[in-house]
Amino acid sequence: MDWFSDWFDSKYYHILYTDRDNAEAEHFISNILGFLKPEKDQHILDLACGKGRHSKLLNDLGYRVTGVDLSENSIMQANQFSNDRLIFDTHDMRDVYAENEFDFVFNLFTSFGYFNSSQENRRVVCAIEKQLKNNGILVLDYMNAEKVISNLIEEEKKTINGIDFRIQREIVGNNVVKTIEFQAEGKQQNFQEKVELLGKTDFINLLNATSLRLIHTFGSYDLQEFDPSTSDRMILLAKKEQ
Ligand SMILES: C[S@@+](CC[C@H](N)C(=O)[O-])C[C@H]1O[C@@H](n2cnc3c(N)ncnc32)[C@H](O)[C@@H]1O
Repeated sequence: MDWFSDWFDSKYYHILYTDRDNAEAEHFISNILGFLKPEKDQHILDLACGKGRHSKLLNDLGYRVTGVDLSENSIMQANQFSNDRLIFDTHDMRDVYAENEFDFVFNLFTSFGYFNSSQENRRVVCAIEKQLKNNGILVLDYMNAEKVISNLIEEEKKTINGIDFRIQREIVGNNVVKTIEFQAEGKQQNFQEKVELLGKTDFINLLNATSLRLIHTFGSYDLQEFDPSTSDRMILLAKKEQ
């Protein structure tokens, strides 16, 4: 099984990332909507939506939202929020969900770079292009690879909900690999995250192979300008040109 099918579908992923909560989502969504100023009838795709924290907020603010994710467990939990203007579905982001349907595609909190193949990366970007309407906008919120490399915390221990997580990080080839070990349910549990260290130029090259063009890069959820040496995030905005 691929690491991303296994780890993100486990309840332990949600325990470890418990601090990536609704407050964080609310802060970013409010800022990015202030910048994008979408119309209320526009349709937003939350691509790799997890348990739907951003989708729910967007829907609460009046938008029509579709949230998709590979993890059946996450979609099952997200479904508690669904209504006639908010639907969730299990779906692989490498495939097209609905063609020419969305005014915005949001891909948030490093939900890219899992496949370790430039061909698969291209497949995701091509699928996004197909799903956007003309003039539609992609918002892709990624780690800042340069800062991840320069500030790598090699070893960390965290106790959350009574679970002692031991986290190790290393750079392997062009990936940051995070090993997560802990005891739970009476046994040793081992998971891995492996995310490609893609920089702004890598994304520009991926986008330029489609009709998507980079229009802005932010460096934080506060929407500060992106600076590769200091920014916490790399938030790319790209527009589908006709
Ligand atoms: C870091 S989480 C972010 C989730 C959500 N965007 C959030 O901010 O809470 C990455 C998500 O990507 C999903 N994912 C991984 N591979 C996927 C794929 N091939 N297609 C769709 N979703 C995928 C995982 O199941 C997980 O929910």
